[in-house]
Amino acid sequence: MLQIDILTLFPQMFEGPFNASILKRATDQKLVSVVIHNIRDYAHDKHHIVDDYTYGGGAGMILKPEPIFEAIESIKSNICLEEGVDMLPVILLTPQGRLLSHQIALELSSYSHLILICGRYEGVDARVHQHLVSDEISIGDYVLSGGELAAMVVTDAVVRLLPGVLGSEASPLDDSHTTGLLEYPQYTRPAVYKEWAVPDVLLSGNHAQIAKWRREQAIQRTMKHRPELLDKAGLNSGEKQLAKALKQS
Ligand code: 6GU
Repeated sequence: MLQIDILTLFPQMFEGPFNASILKRATDQKLVSVVIHNIRDYAHDKHHIVDDYTYGGGAGMILKPEPIFEAIESIKSNICLEEGVDMLPVILLTPQGRLLSHQIALELSSYSHLILICGRYEGVDARVHQHLVSDEISIGDYVLSGGELAAMVVTDAVVRLLPGVLGSEASPLDDSHTTGLLEYPQYTRPAVYKEWAVPDVLLSGNHAQIAKWRREQAIQRTMKHRPELLDKAGLNSGEKQLAKALKQS
């Protein structure tokens, strides 16, 4: 069982996404346990203040270090009582982090505990970056108003890789990015919708032909939308020729 502790100033944001679909099923099956902590509960002053002005001047409020350090300490002490946990990643979600990828999701799915900290406002005190977290992750080159949506993205990407979460028929093995290529197009019934027919090869029952078609389609899609992925996709020489031909056409 994977336990994910999430620190946030907005616990209510997590209620919808974590109570539906695959995350809900994985929780019900006890494959994952997600615990949401309100950072404000760890602020001891009367007004539960969690942010303050930035030293040196500048616009916006910065998250104070004390409530975040104390929240992590409290979570860690509970975890260590349970079992001998050797390595417990503490991950700050921030646009300054390393970019989330399938590889990183896979790496995170191998731990028994993860702690995710959602940054907010204009930033987090640098001592949190320097002395508390073991990793910083971003979900893309754009700025969100907080780390909450990013924490949900990380959680979803990690949980669906846990053994038993997806049924055997919906294996993640063919997913986009698992193979290094974008996924091939898929069709379901009806065989003809409006005047658009499903490609004949998919109705042929010829599994070798279907596999070949899918691989070519995946290469074609990757070339169109994410050409930079092709270098690392491990194409054979015939496939490289195909990619080159697609590039020129
Ligand atoms: Cl993790 N946080 C924020 N605030 N913005 C982001 C992000 C994270 N990843 C991409 N943009």
